[in-house]
Amino acid sequence: MMKHTRIEVTEFVERRQRVLAKMPDNSVAVIPANKEVTRSRDTEFLFCQDKDFYYLTGFHEPDALLVLVKGDETESILFCRDKDPAQEVWHGRRVGAEKAQEAFKLDHTYTLDELEQVLPMYINGTEYLLFAQGADKEFDSMVFAILDILRAGFKQGFSAPGTLIDIRPIIHEMRLFKSAAEINIMREANVISGNAHSRAMTFAKHGTFEYQVEAEILHEFASNGARAAAYGSIVGGGENATILHYTDNDEVLIDEELLLIDAGAELSGYAADITRTFPVSGKFTAEQKALYNVVLEAQNATIAAIKPGNNFAQLNNIACEVLTRGLYDLGLLSGDLQQLIEEKACKQYFIHGLGHWLGLDVHDVGDYQMDEHKNQLRAFEPGMVMTIEPGLYIDAEAEVGENYQGLGIRIEDNILVTADGHENLTVNVPKTVDEIEALMAG
Ligand code: GLY
Ligand code: MN
Ligand code: MN
Repeated sequence: MMKHTRIEVTEFVERRQRVLAKMPDNSVAVIPANKEVTRSRDTEFLFCQDKDFYYLTGFHEPDALLVLVKGDETESILFCRDKDPAQEVWHGRRVGAEKAQEAFKLDHTYTLDELEQVLPMYINGTEYLLFAQGADKEFDSMVFAILDILRAGFKQGFSAPGTLIDIRPIIHEMRLFKSAAEINIMREANVISGNAHSRAMTFAKHGTFEYQVEAEILHEFASNGARAAAYGSIVGGGENATILHYTDNDEVLIDEELLLIDAGAELSGYAADITRTFPVSGKFTAEQKALYNVVLEAQNATIAAIKPGNNFAQLNNIACEVLTRGLYDLGLLSGDLQQLIEEKACKQYFIHGLGHWLGLDVHDVGDYQMDEHKNQLRAFEPGMVMTIEPGLYIDAEAEVGENYQGLGIRIEDNILVTADGHENLTVNVPKTVDEIEALMAG
């Protein structure tokens, strides 16, 4: 198993300093951790930390709260669960307020028991309060209750901030640009995920169930330190591949079908998001191959155009031209080719976006700068990571040659924008027809 990159505590400190630098004078920001989520009765889902909170702390425990204060000086404060041997023997270790201060390089730490008394005092007298209003109704209520207390306490000299500011755009703009350590983790998440896809290709056979293929993928993730998938794995044979978010994964595979797998590991909080499509038999039919190569050509042409200054709208035009031309050549679109290209006629079969930002979330945060026609005009800059995932989905009832009916094909890689172009992070999983057939031939 490879060694995983760790993000140093100093990087989390530096991120907090950057947020503080963007906050107005005399302001305070409150950023809560996630809570545990009940699965049923007294069992819980595997805990997933709030990504904004994690980005600024590196702290893994539920129920905590980060407070950033910008007064004459700046301060980072954490409220967290305190040590509790009786609880820890049941539910696992806690860092505790005392150790957290040094371990996470915070100015002050408090236990959650102290929150009710202490938090209003940090908010009191500030002009601006920054938080993600609407993300968690219970947290909103707590914040508004504190504001009410401060407003009611004017005779004691209390005052509540008069202006609420959404903190998300500040954090999300930072998250869009990945640091060297984050990029390394995303490379590692891609290697693990690529190995899982290769493993699935060599495993899937006529008579295998989709869930058995999923189990191979999850085994590869977990045994390499990625206990969770970044999103529900999609393992769709035949027509199931035309259902974009198919996660039932309970049908049997047969030789005549393609298998579409969209699966990515979450490693140290960071997502990979990879799709491959291959024939269960190990050999593409003529029609499967022809359509596959149209999607692959669209992906290659699009990735080739990724460099600083370009944007998703341009990539989308490139992908649509290749897809439309390919569909026309195969007889799946008819009419005047130039007009079809102008109309983006491929959209009949290419029914989702070309890609999205990728990072701590699979559909990561970051402004796309969309215009009124939904063109994504954000100019690429070094450090951004995106998916490129063209696909074609032919309905089983579509009026096309029967060998095309029910085919679903998507190919998805993860791409980093670099100073002089791009780096494809998805390097270790077969993608061309020849590569796939060679791997599956054993
Ligand atoms: N796996 C979800 C997506 O490709 O966007
Ligand atoms: Mn995907
Ligand atoms: Mn994706």
